[in-house]
Amino acid sequence: MTQSTILTGITTTGTPHLGNYVGAIRPAIEASKQNNVSPFYFLADYHALIKCNDPEKVHQSSLEIAATWLALGLDTDNATFYRQSDVPEIMELSWMLTCVTAKGLMNRSHAYKAMVAENEEAANNDADKGISMGLFSYPILMAADMLIFNANKVPVGKDQIQHIEMARDIASRFNHIYGEHFTLPEAIIDDKASILSGLDGRKMSKSYNNTIPLFVPEKKLKKLINKIKTNSLEPGEPKDTETCTLFSTYKAFASEKEVAEIRKQYAAGIAWGEMKKVLFEKINAEITPARERYENLLNEPEFIEQKLQEGAVKARAITQPFLVELRKAIGIHRFS
Ligand code: TRP
Repeated sequence: MTQSTILTGITTTGTPHLGNYVGAIRPAIEASKQNNVSPFYFLADYHALIKCNDPEKVHQSSLEIAATWLALGLDTDNATFYRQSDVPEIMELSWMLTCVTAKGLMNRSHAYKAMVAENEEAANNDADKGISMGLFSYPILMAADMLIFNANKVPVGKDQIQHIEMARDIASRFNHIYGEHFTLPEAIIDDKASILSGLDGRKMSKSYNNTIPLFVPEKKLKKLINKIKTNSLEPGEPKDTETCTLFSTYKAFASEKEVAEIRKQYAAGIAWGEMKKVLFEKINAEITPARERYENLLNEPEFIEQKLQEGAVKARAITQPFLVELRKAIGIHRFS
């Protein structure tokens, strides 16, 4: 079987929550255990600047996200695990790509268009109010992230599909002008990966402020689970599973057999308080060993740094020679 290069990045703003874990990190760690894949996972710290101008926050978030991946058992011998900013070839490629990217392509970016629409709705006389060039051209940086490693499989959420398509467009354009240098990446949307709902029932997302952080202390986890919104049905009244956040969350952590059992209990009218207890026990059992490792890791930033530096060395063994090739292709290289 041919080896596939699977790559994904996490923007270093904020603390990872259960939704990130179930939707992205857990499947990525699983995928990294298959022997026909070569995984590249990275901290997208230059992407963080697009949304966040708080140096403390960007720094702290990088540490927490790195500790999270390591605590959850990412095998850094098999996976290349690195910080985007430790691989400067990515930024250099980003400029090369910027120069072959049509501005019109970026105009079509959902993220940018949404902000313009917001400004227009607010009757701003500046449609571009609050929009930095970072936000506008961020799909190009994302393309560089993928193309520098010739990634062919990129697991992402649905909101990122457009960015993968843009990367394909940009890569094709570069290949057309300068010769075949890049593989066109493909988005992998895992339909089985659960999208968790948050405390209020909407999709769990930092922007809705409805998240359960992955490694909160046990007591806090219990408290947050108790806050998950339910309807007002009394104990003994049959309850619907399909519209219930407690149930869908449980499904993301339990075996099929356990889910079938809980389904019966819903029909039999399980009390919400009881279901919350069951859910807490289930999540807590899965998270506890990693939580302990996470807390230890946070006290050992030198260890985390060493892992990232090892990752950067592995990454640059690929990116440095590739960049020499690319510079040559575009006519920027030494005379002798
Ligand atoms: N933009 C992605 C997000 O917000 C993170 C990201 C940056 C990424 N570079 C990437 C994902 C490259 C996949 C591949 O989720």
